[in-house]
Amino acid sequence: MFHLLYIFFRALIIFYCITVIFADNLFFGGDGYNAFYIENKLYFIGSYSQYQFYIDLKDLSLENGTIYNNTPRISVASPNYVVSSNPFIGGNSNKKLFFIDKSAYGLYVDTFNTELNKWETNNSYKGLPNVDLSWNQAWVTNETTGISYSFQEYLSTGVVIFDTINFVWINSTSNPQNLFSKDIFSINGCIPVLLSSGQILYIGGKLYSFNQTLMNRILTYDSIKDSWQINNTTGKTPEERTGHTAVLTSDGRVIVYGGENNLSKSAIPYLTILDTSKTPFMWSTPIEENSIGSLNSHTSVMVKNYMITAFGT
Ligand SMILES: *[C@@H]1O[C@H](CO)[C@@H](O)[C@H](O)[C@H]1NC(C)=O
Ligand SMILES: *[C@@H]1O[C@H](CO)[C@@H](O)[C@H](O)[C@H]1NC(C)=O
Ligand SMILES: *[C@@H]1O[C@H](CO)[C@@H](O)[C@H](O)[C@H]1NC(C)=O
Ligand SMILES: *[C@@H]1O[C@H](CO)[C@@H](O)[C@H](O)[C@H]1NC(C)=O
Ligand SMILES: *[C@@H]1O[C@H](CO)[C@@H](O)[C@H](O)[C@H]1NC(C)=O
Ligand SMILES: *[C@@H]1O[C@H](CO)[C@@H](O)[C@H](O)[C@H]1NC(C)=O
Ligand SMILES: *[C@@H]1O[C@H](CO)[C@@H](O)[C@H](O)[C@H]1NC(C)=O
Ligand SMILES: *[C@@H]1O[C@H](CO)[C@@H](O)[C@H](O)[C@H]1NC(C)=O
Repeated sequence: MFHLLYIFFRALIIFYCITVIFADNLFFGGDGYNAFYIENKLYFIGSYSQYQFYIDLKDLSLENGTIYNNTPRISVASPNYVVSSNPFIGGNSNKKLFFIDKSAYGLYVDTFNTELNKWETNNSYKGLPNVDLSWNQAWVTNETTGISYSFQEYLSTGVVIFDTINFVWINSTSNPQNLFSKDIFSINGCIPVLLSSGQILYIGGKLYSFNQTLMNRILTYDSIKDSWQINNTTGKTPEERTGHTAVLTSDGRVIVYGGENNLSKSAIPYLTILDTSKTPFMWSTPIEENSIGSLNSHTSVMVKNYMITAFGT
């Protein structure tokens, strides 16, 4: 049973059961936010021109639909030269947010230390990525090794890899081009999900210039073997999508929410689940209670057993 709730300015979906409602009147909105959950704090990090903040969840229960009015939003305003729109978690104890920025002067690795509440900009690093980094590709981090991965959209490139503990760029030596025909060269808007096995699933997105859905053929990067494969799925394939989110539950289910199909309409069903504990991976669609409807360009994060979704349109 899934109860969903529409709150927090644009949205806050709570997964499993109805819960917290942040009923503030936020005066800002739109997409571009990324949510992170670190040490009981829920961070909402946007681009530098957006208000960046966290909400302390320590004393807030997510149970029973409690409404919290005027939950304090604590500012984490960044220096204005930190502009990355795709920060990611890293560091020794996974308490830093990493921002990779490109400028005319080179590549910058800036961090926000959530423990010390402190920015550290222009960190030195070793090596360089093997490609010109793209602005808008998401990262995932293996929180055991501190190594982060970002698929750069081009099939001939594969992933760039950054070691967030030692500040070293690592070159991948594989790419997924051979899994597709030569005339397909990129995938736009797929969302990475790192499984406990070290496999990164790329969910959704659009094959450049082709009307092919990727929902029933999941592009997978094995971060341990540095290799690529495609995994066919079973179950009823949901509509293809971009602008969606995908998060992993502790029992291996990928919760995919929202986004638009190839005709720029809300992808159906809004909420769908890929069970990765099954071989082959299996799609299913749960019955939603109190569905909040469609969302696009939102952000989602797991907080214990809840998926919290915010912003979007
Ligand atoms: C939620 O409701 C259940 C059942 O009424 C109750 O046992 C539990 O203590 C409540 N939790 C909180 C955090 O209020
Ligand atoms: C960043 O650090 C390098 C040395 O590590 C220095 O040459 C450069 O000027 C610094 N850039 C900024 C914007 O501070
Ligand atoms: C990775 O590739 C880049 C660009 O080809 C190169 O400059 C860099 O030295 C390589 N790094 C390693 C560790 O081989
Ligand atoms: C992280 O990397 C380790 C070592 O390669 C691996 O055993 C583990 O499965 C990975 N964890 C995740 C969550 O991918
Ligand atoms: C994609 O779909 C459109 C309309 O459905 C069609 O006109 C076009 O030929 C298709 N393109 C490819 C590469 O299949
Ligand atoms: C959209 O995707 C469907 C399959 O999901 C496909 O049949 C259709 O041709 C695609 N249309 C366009 C315009 O890409
Ligand atoms: C996956 O599906 C494709 C057809 O869509 C098929 O050609 C391929 O053999 C399948 N792969 C496996 C491992 O079953
Ligand atoms: C994914 O594909 C690989 C390579 O074909 C295969 O070895 C593996 O069993 C597949 N996994 C699942 C869950 O289907």
